[in-house]
Amino acid sequence: MISKQALRKLSRILGPEAISTCRDVLDHYGTDATKLAYSPDAVAFPGHIREIADILRLANHEGFPVVPRGAGSGKSGGALPVQGGLILAMDRFDRILEIDESNHIAKVESGVITARLQEEVEKVGLFYPPDPASIHISTIGGNVAECAGGLRAVKYGVTRDYVLGLTVVLPTGNIIKTGVETAKGVVGYDLTRLLIGSEGTLAVIVGVTLRLIPKPVFTRSMMVFFKDPCTTVKAVSEIMRSKVVPTALEFMDRNCIECVRNEIGLSIPKSTGALLLIELDGDRALTRRETDTVKEICSQMGAIDFQAASTKKKRERLWEARRNVSPAVYKLKPDKVSEDVVVPRNRMADLVSYVNRLSQKYGLPMPVYGHAGDGNIHVNMMLDKKNPDELTKVDKAVRELFQKVLDMKGTLSGEHGIGITKAPYLSMEISKPAQELMIRVKKAFDPNGILNPGKIFPQRI
Ligand code: LAC
Ligand code: ZN
Repeated sequence: MISKQALRKLSRILGPEAISTCRDVLDHYGTDATKLAYSPDAVAFPGHIREIADILRLANHEGFPVVPRGAGSGKSGGALPVQGGLILAMDRFDRILEIDESNHIAKVESGVITARLQEEVEKVGLFYPPDPASIHISTIGGNVAECAGGLRAVKYGVTRDYVLGLTVVLPTGNIIKTGVETAKGVVGYDLTRLLIGSEGTLAVIVGVTLRLIPKPVFTRSMMVFFKDPCTTVKAVSEIMRSKVVPTALEFMDRNCIECVRNEIGLSIPKSTGALLLIELDGDRALTRRETDTVKEICSQMGAIDFQAASTKKKRERLWEARRNVSPAVYKLKPDKVSEDVVVPRNRMADLVSYVNRLSQKYGLPMPVYGHAGDGNIHVNMMLDKKNPDELTKVDKAVRELFQKVLDMKGTLSGEHGIGITKAPYLSMEISKPAQELMIRVKKAFDPNGILNPGKIFPQRI
């Protein structure tokens, strides 16, 4: 709870127009892509790093929570104000400060929309590869806070692989820079890596220095149809075994295909049980050779059809359809619990058939899609949250799924983070001493626990 006196002080720090307690603003900033909702006491729209430092000092003094927020596109509740307090909306930090062509670096503020950065760097022949499905709405700061993955991770890696340095405000109000603006750097502990994926619990990210690479000259996208999902994911292991590394290697089962069928823009054979969406990039000759190899492998694995997206427009339509799978599965049921588990690639067929059995056991649709090239599968447990029986079933199914994933030497989250939705399961993967160490790290950054409390750890510190 923020006291009236603290609200007055906030208004003095920010100016009265940059803080809001209007109901509709609180409602908008109290929810995110999980569709869960909490009410903050106020929403701040800082415009300068000094204001953030002053807010955090005040929060320590007055004892109210501060929750940093990018676009609210997070899937695990990282930006939700679960203990009320102040939302720190980074909307005004939306400037691309520099694109340095000779050093292949971009300096941006954390509220820049990721797709906008991509477009700008591509204008000068450079490339920022991380490509979360939410790219048109999510921000670089949010991507860094969650270590977003996405569609191109199989070839190019995830957000962490492109962050050279950060400018952050510590929960105590100190402003620090981490990392470097050079290609290499090993001075001191790697605070940059510690902050990436820390889900807004260790510092407020204000500026990001990103590594860029030259833009690939040629890109080819295709869709490959199979009769059954297990063969489809087995084909993924075979492609990777052939040493061809596609830019994207995405899987969709029949349920997901049905949900975006009209958006795909290519014809889908009747007997399709699952498909792969494949993108290859590089120079023209190499891409052609790799396309032939991939096609041959898929044929040997029983593919029933191939469709190439021949024009840029068709290619974009195809990938937009893929980006829309997550919201589109709501066509099946009003609510979902959406997971982003990862298993070794050669265990994906076991995982997909296990999810199928879980779906039958509990009588609930569980559409499956995701970044098959990474073994990172989105399992969507569809339900109606108003039905207590379905809620209980999904609770059980999630725990069973996670146990299976860990038995396969997998991990609970590849890209969405723990936030609040997976906090009850953290102890299934992270040992007690490791959790205690993480909590000591949290306390070293945030002794009074004011920054984004109630996240990651089961005891909700
Ligand atoms: C996706 C998001 C949900 O891959 O991670 O669509
Ligand atoms: Zn994903």
